[in-house]
Order: sequence, then C-alpha cells, then structure tokens
Amino acid sequence: MRSLKNILVTGGAGIIGCNFIRVLLNKTPEFSGRIINLDALTYAGNAASLEDIEKQFGGRRYFFEQGSICDRSLVESLFSKYDIDTVAHFAAESHVDRSIFGPETFVKTNVMGTFTLLDVARNFWQEARSVGLPGAGAPDIRQDVLFHHISTDEVYGSLGETGAFSETTPYNPRSPYSASKAASDHLVMAYSHTYGLPVTLSNCSNNYGPYQFPEKFIPLSILHILEGKALPVYGDGKNIRDWLYVEDHNRAVWLILQRGVPGEKYNIGGENERENINLLHSLIDTVSKKADLDPEKVRSTISYVKDRPGHDRRYAINCSKVKTELGWKPAFGFEQGLEKTVDWYLANSEWIEGIRSGEYRSWVEKNYGARGA
Ligand code: NAD
Ligand code: DAU
Repeated sequence: MRSLKNILVTGGAGIIGCNFIRVLLNKTPEFSGRIINLDALTYAGNAASLEDIEKQFGGRRYFFEQGSICDRSLVESLFSKYDIDTVAHFAAESHVDRSIFGPETFVKTNVMGTFTLLDVARNFWQEARSVGLPGAGAPDIRQDVLFHHISTDEVYGSLGETGAFSETTPYNPRSPYSASKAASDHLVMAYSHTYGLPVTLSNCSNNYGPYQFPEKFIPLSILHILEGKALPVYGDGKNIRDWLYVEDHNRAVWLILQRGVPGEKYNIGGENERENINLLHSLIDTVSKKADLDPEKVRSTISYVKDRPGHDRRYAINCSKVKTELGWKPAFGFEQGLEKTVDWYLANSEWIEGIRSGEYRSWVEKNYGARGA
C-alpha cells in the first residue's frame, strides 16, 4: 500500500472533490496526511462547501490554494511548497450543456490544465529522485508517487439498448466536454508510456449527492420541484444514465490511490441505470413526500424541451475490475442516496442561495432565458 503524505487535490471545491476531501479527513482514520486543494473557484466551485473542513483542519492537514491548474508557475510552486507525492486530479469544466455553448474553456482547462499538471509532476518527481535516490538503472521518475486522473464514462460514447462500457471499450467521445476529457485521458496514459510517470485513471458514471451545482439534472429538478417551476426533460426523456452516490465514487478513488496499479485504468459505476423520465418521477415522489407537496400537481409541471444536440442515448458501466481487483463495492443504494441528497438540499438553502446568486444565474438567464436557475 502506498504511503500518501501530501495529496494535491485539484478541483476540491466542486461536488466530487469537496466530498472526497470530507470523506478523507472525516471518515478515513487510516489517512493521516495533508490535503492541498487547488481550485480556481469558477462558477462551479464554492469555498463555502469546505468551511467546516477549513475550521477543523485548516493550516494543519488542509490547505486551500486558489488558482488555475493551467498556471504552470503556481503549480510548480505548490509541488515544492508542500512536497506533493500524490495528485488526485478532479478539476475540470464538467457540464455537457456548457461545453456545447462554449467549448473553448473546456479545451483550456481539461486538456491544457491536465497537461500542465502532468508535466510539472514529471519534472518535480524526476528532480526529487535525482537529488534523493541515485542508482544505476533506476527509473528516472520516482515510483513511490502517483498521479490519479478522474475521468468520465462519456469518453466511450453512447450505447444501444444492451451492453456496458469496459476498460477496453474504444474511445468515441461525442460532445466537446467528453472530447476534452478523452484528450486528457490520452495525455495521462502517454505520460505513463513515454516517461514512466506512475499514473492511474478512473472513468466514472453520473454522480449525485450533496454540494452538486444546480445545473445538473438531479439538483436542478429537486429545486424546481420545491419552487413550483417547470421541470425540463430533454427530448423524449428516455435517455439512460447510470447513477452513483458521490461518496461511493470517492471510496473507489481512495482505493485506487492506495492500491491502484500504475498504468491501469478502472471503470466505476453504480450499476443503476435509469431513464431520465423515470428518475424524475422518483424524485417527484421523494421530494413531494418530504416537502408535503401534491405529487400529481408537481408531475403536471414536467415540460419536454428541445433535445441536447448530440445527446448520448445510454451509458452503462461494467465495473467488475475495480470490484474484483480492489475490493470496491458501493455502500449506498439508489433510494437511500436519493433520500440523503434530497434531505441535504432541503436543509441547505443558504448554500443554494449563495451559489445561485453568482455567475451561474446570469449564465443561465443568458442561455436558457425564461427557464431560470
Ligand atoms: P464540478 O463542476 O462540480 O467542479 C469542478 C471544480 O473544478 C470546481 O470547483 C471548479 O472551480 C474547479 N475548476 C474548474 N476549472 C479549474 C481550473 N482551471 N483550475 C482549478 N480548478 C478549476 O465538477 P465535478 O462534477 O466535481 O467533477 C469533478 C471531476 O470528475 C471532473 O474531472 C469530471 O470530469 C469528473 N466526473 C464527473 C462526474 C459527475 O457526474 N459529476 C462523473 C464522472 C467524472
Ligand atoms: O456520465 C458522467 C457525466 O455525467 C460526467 O462526466 C459529467 O461531468 C456530468 O455532468 C454528467 O453528465 P450528464 O450530461 O449525463 O449530466 P446532466 O445532469 O447534465 O444530465 C443528465 C441527463 O439528464 C442527461 O441525459 C440530460 C438530461 N437532462 C439534463 C438537464 C440538466 C434533462 O433531461 N433536463 C435537464 O434539465
């Protein structure tokens, strides 16, 4: 098992990153190291998501650094300042619809940002080895370190009615978002093959849970149900996604950091496929019960809207590798995860107001008009 002392988490103010930091510092006694969170705080990043962590661990085991993964000199200075031995790279532009309206930042952050991190890691870990650990025939790059890249099942493209993506499924990305993530995956693997950089890669299905930005289907629907707004369903509502509670994703990432084999990739998924319209009905039932609403009245606000261009029809993940090789299994069933998520949104109106008052609101108004945030 790797000893993980100083983990550079990128994008730790987004949903998956902030839940990862919380899981590691609050619920993982075997981890005694430090976390350095590098986040640019774009519209999707919210420092308030980690206020409790800052109070409890700030300056001792948790360090927040605001900045971009594209800023090479900043990234270099952080590797030196904190003597980074592990990277958990979450930072990205993550929303498919935004990539259709404006693909450029996706290429900059997801491709160039990942390249910058990889290249700094390669240089830093190479230098560290030549200073500290000489030896004939030894690899140029330290092998006791790890660069883990968090990616998506969307790189594999779209499935028909049957089958599931495995780690050997050829890449076939179809949106600017998934194309930029595919490019970053290829760079990660190229750094392993060419330079011997110890890397791992994971491709996960749709996450949901606390702190998810309310542009994504589940939190957007929860808030619209509570506010009596129209519930937008793209196309015929029969597109299928495989849903995984965010903490389960993060448990898999933690296992990979400890025991993942360098050069390998792992698929992670909930084995929990749902048609969007059926998922929405489940959400309507759950939210209505908790908020004392009439579910039939809520159902009447479902509004079929113009489809997302190039909308992938179905994703499904074969995650037997991470289960058999690393012993991962999800702890939360879908109904349980959904209940926890709805409870969280009901209890955190301050967080919701905070995140909606910023750039998100003006972006949504500009691009979706009357639909609102
Ligand atoms: P998110 O949009 O919630 O958060 C992204 C975070 O990255 C934000 O805090 C943002 O401020 C930060 N960021 C953006 N650009 C940056 C930059 N240039 N420098 C530093 N920080 C920057 O995203 P998420 O849903 O938490 O996704 C995290 C990772 O997981 C992404 O790589 C995404 O592709 C991948 N992923 C997401 C899902 C999902 O369902 N959400 C599923 C599979 C994989
Ligand atoms: O599969 C993993 C991916 O899941 C991640 O890589 C992405 O970062 C993440 O954003 C997510 O992508 P999706 O496009 O699947 O998620 P989103 O929540 O945007 O949409 C889920 C489904 O719901 C999709 O089929 C589109 C549909 N949808 C979405 C919205 C926002 C609607 O029908 N109505 C909506 O208002």
